[in-house]
Amino acid sequence: MRIGIYPGSFDPLTLGHIDIAERARNICDKLFIAAAKNISKKPLFSIEERLEMIRECCLDMANIEIVTFEGLLADFCINRNVNFIARGIRSGTDFDTEYAVALLNKKLAPETETIFFPSGSEYSFVSSSMVKEVASYGGDLTTLVPQFVHQKLTEKFSG
Ligand code: PNS
Repeated sequence: MRIGIYPGSFDPLTLGHIDIAERARNICDKLFIAAAKNISKKPLFSIEERLEMIRECCLDMANIEIVTFEGLLADFCINRNVNFIARGIRSGTDFDTEYAVALLNKKLAPETETIFFPSGSEYSFVSSSMVKEVASYGGDLTTLVPQFVHQKLTEKFSG
């Protein structure tokens, strides 16, 4: 059984994330979509809200398990026998950061590989931070986030 993990902050989930999750789940038997509980930047959405968005938007994905994790990703990978970590790469800047993190994770969890997925060309500029910024000014996000997330963003900024 090949097990993958797609970890992230998912604050909030974007269509770019869904594209990577779809492609990662196609190359394993089971894919954890893992939302990090503790992230360095203060999240807009609570961990429960982030999980709800992932659950609602990934309903039709067969071989996934949606989880949260705390602490080191490498420890989760060791404990759950994860074969690979999936990360999306949008740019050279992403690559530089992700390459260093991949080397670190390989040191901490030598049995777990990192696989980089070039982002879908239509999503190569999409980030959760950008989506939050656009949402805060009431901009149109219909091509960047799922409808459910759009609704949650609207509620957050109208409150
Ligand atoms: O969506 P993000 O913010 O790019 O996801 C980053 C994330 C959560 C995958 C990364 O920060 C992470 O793995 N955090 C858990 C703590 C950890 O393992 N740190 C060492 C690698 S930076």
